[in-house]
Amino acid sequence: METELPHAARWLPPKTFENDFAIVTGGGTGLGLEISRGLCALGARVVILSRDAEHHRAFMDECATRGWRGEAATLDLREPVDVERAANALAERHGAPTILVNNAAGNFVCPAERLSARAWRAVLGIVLDGTFYASRYFGKHMIEARRGRILNVVATYAWTGMPGVVHSASAKAGVLAMTRTLAVEWARFGLRVNAIAPGPFESEGARGNLWPDEAMKARIESGIPLGRFGTADEMAAHCLWLLSPASSYVNGECFTIDGGASLGRGMWTEGATRKGTEERA
Ligand code: HXC
Repeated sequence: METELPHAARWLPPKTFENDFAIVTGGGTGLGLEISRGLCALGARVVILSRDAEHHRAFMDECATRGWRGEAATLDLREPVDVERAANALAERHGAPTILVNNAAGNFVCPAERLSARAWRAVLGIVLDGTFYASRYFGKHMIEARRGRILNVVATYAWTGMPGVVHSASAKAGVLAMTRTLAVEWARFGLRVNAIAPGPFESEGARGNLWPDEAMKARIESGIPLGRFGTADEMAAHCLWLLSPASSYVNGECFTIDGGASLGRGMWTEGATRKGTEERA
């Protein structure tokens, strides 16, 4: 049996989350899966929520193998009544959640002038509405319990903008504003609300939709000072830290984890074009 800790979980003490009950939206794939695995490995009870039950399988299989406290439920975050019902049912069963990770997203590259109203609505619905509904309805139980941590996943194009993803960039900008707003508004209830902005990292969803071929991937990679894509577990390690007591005074912050990709390189390219050699930890 595989007993090695997930990579993201290696940097915190083994029982860091043993008193936690975490909800992770989109928690069965990509970054969400790595966060869910890391939380479980460090002792949390984790419920993953996503639209597609197929996306639950890898997590649930691993929970069974490793004896983790994991569950999964299907939910479309665009439906506020369903989100409220799920939040109440889970709080009834396990008590108030202590952690909410708003990770679920929809995205694809499409020029704005060709983006249909339905396509715009689909992405805004999942990313912006879904993050609010989950925060609102799971947050209600955290507020009653007077404790909780919410982590939102945004992207650096929330503030830089990026051609081809006007829907996602607009939605993520809204989520960033939501992060800062709720961080201040809900601090009086003992909640912390933070965000991460990951740069490009390998995942099934991103590969198919955002860099469908190797040439495109190489082009993106050449613009990253560290010279490579990130990995989901590098992103997840930072998320675990932000959800842990190690970051207990961090509130309303958004951490960029992109190998320096979103920083300008200035006018003098010499010294900034060499492929990065920094290895992952
Ligand atoms: C143009 C598209 C499209 C595409 C869907 N649509 N995919 N338009 N290009 N590739 C349009 C459809 O034609 C339709 O509009 C509308 O969107 C709704 O599509 P449906 O399939 O009916 O909707 P639904 O099943 O609800 O959801 C669609 C979806 C979903 C949101 C795109 O399939 C999804 O989430 N897929 C990708 C998941 C993903 O990529 N996750 C990783 C995100 S990573 P019409 O008008 O035709 O009916 C990320 C990080 C980036 O975001 C950071 C980089 C630095």
